[in-house]
Amino acid sequence: MPDETISLMKNHRTYRQFDEDYQLSDQELQQILDSARQAPTWMNGQLYSILVIKDPQIREQLVAWNPGNPHMRHSSVFLVFLADLKRTQKVAEYKKTDYNVGQSVDPLLVAVADAAFALQNAVNAVEALGLGSVVVGSIRNNIDEVAELLQLPDYVFPVAGLSIGKPTVPMAVKPRLPQAAVVHFDTYQDYDYSQIEDYDATMKKFGELRETKDWTQKFADVFSRPASQKVDDYLKSHGLLK
Ligand SMILES: Cc1cc2nc3c(=O)[nH]c(=O)nc-3n(C[C@H](O)[C@H](O)[C@H](O)COP(=O)(O)O)c2cc1C
Repeated sequence: MPDETISLMKNHRTYRQFDEDYQLSDQELQQILDSARQAPTWMNGQLYSILVIKDPQIREQLVAWNPGNPHMRHSSVFLVFLADLKRTQKVAEYKKTDYNVGQSVDPLLVAVADAAFALQNAVNAVEALGLGSVVVGSIRNNIDEVAELLQLPDYVFPVAGLSIGKPTVPMAVKPRLPQAAVVHFDTYQDYDYSQIEDYDATMKKFGELRETKDWTQKFADVFSRPASQKVDDYLKSHGLLK
């Protein structure tokens, strides 16, 4: 039913606490993977891969590096979505053609987008099964260690993980920015800064405990910090960027 799909997406929320005894069935996992793999993809390139991580030791190590996300160990399954330009590199090798993906940022962008579309389809499938999930971008905080642990080859970049399980703590639907600050008709239109400030008030009212700052302050801080070069270095050393 189309209205059910829309209602599912409008009711999305992240869950971070899961029933440790809940075993995801093979059938449920398959439904999630099949949904992910049917996402739209640039030129039908399918420039991504999915790691299904069940091994408790791997999951424990991921949490040791990133203790803020203990669900990577306690969820039923942990998936990692990879931008993957290795497969097409194999093609180039077999066809004996040049492989110039690192010469521009565009192949990387489309591969990351492909991985993200697949991830979002997985999130929707999880929710359609009555389960919950949390996207884990912070696996990239230890990108070199994570890549070694997961034995990622060159041309592969970990975009984000996804902890999936049966939620134990209810969560509320989080309000979004005002539509006027996000949606434009025909051409990009400037909007008043008050639209952004309004969102600080909305989020304050929402009262999310894990947020310690206003939304505007959070991003003023994040984007004024000197940027880490870790991801850039990883991309350069893995053939994905000049
Ligand atoms: C790329 C990406 C990375 C994320 N990384 C994390 C993370 O490392 N840890 C976490 O708890 N949530 C993470 N999230 C979840 C966001 O915090 C969450 O989606 C956002 O606050 C909106 O809340 P909602 O999903 O409940 O609507 C991530 C989400 C995305 C899209």
